[in-house]
Amino acid sequence: MINQLVSAQQLMDKELLQRLFKIAEDYRTNHPDDYPKLLKHKILASLFYEPSTRTRLSFETAVMRLSGRILTAENALGTSSAVKGESIEDTIRVMNGYVDGIIMRHPEVGSAKRAASMATVPFFNAGDGGGEHPTQALLDMYTIFRSKQSFDGLNIALVGDLLHSRTMHSLLQLLSMYKVNFYLVSPTALQLPDEFTSLLKNAGTHYEKRERWDDIAGQIDVVYSNRIQAERFDDRAVYEKLKDSFCITKETMKSVKKDMILMNPLPRVSEILPEVDDDPRAIYFEQSKNGVYARMALLTEIYG
Ligand code: NCD
Repeated sequence: MINQLVSAQQLMDKELLQRLFKIAEDYRTNHPDDYPKLLKHKILASLFYEPSTRTRLSFETAVMRLSGRILTAENALGTSSAVKGESIEDTIRVMNGYVDGIIMRHPEVGSAKRAASMATVPFFNAGDGGGEHPTQALLDMYTIFRSKQSFDGLNIALVGDLLHSRTMHSLLQLLSMYKVNFYLVSPTALQLPDEFTSLLKNAGTHYEKRERWDDIAGQIDVVYSNRIQAERFDDRAVYEKLKDSFCITKETMKSVKKDMILMNPLPRVSEILPEVDDDPRAIYFEQSKNGVYARMALLTEIYG
């Protein structure tokens, strides 16, 4: 049993994933009135030092669906004592005394590990800069599983800013437990960091680095795209040059498999045109909804 989730590595257990998918599926099919009051009398804090829509609100929905309560520090970099120079470590020590769990997003890579080392209550990394985003990986795996029923044999293209995309960094770890083929599609300047390619190598996972995917479009089972992560660039000019590297259009969808699924953790900027949204293979809004069930499952595993 885990009580701190810092990296997707901690979810690298096929049985655990299957159990979580099953719980998520049960929540999906049950009426909210029938949900267990698992978090009754529990208070969780969401400490967000970086913008978020889906992660914070779906986590908070998940907590409240299980009868827990939430304390939110949104825009915590601007409104909490971080402004006065308080360290993450001190903030977490204080929160330990207030709440029964901490959900944190912070712009620095490694911040989640530092925070978790001080937490005496369950801790959830909701994104540490361009590092990891393990709960997103859980809902992404759940989404793939619902569509494909299995992971082995899938051809998966990760398309976009592989250097900075924390959702991809976490997702590829979980997928590396299975026999998937990865196409790592990015501009050269935004390739996957070495630590993650090493991880794929060590897992014996087949991967190919590429700059485009149109020539292999007909072979891909899952396209996972993500915006170029503007906030991670030191040089705005570099971002401007790369921001429109990929754009999936109605035309693109004509060249892909009939049962391909198109995922995106959202927000979507220019990497998928809205004209694609009505295509049944475009499942990103469904994917974001799965975030509530997947996070409810995780909370159930930890507090149940
Ligand atoms: C992602 C994130 O914050 O990393 N969003 C999310 O959590 N659903 C992806 C992104 O911001 O591009």
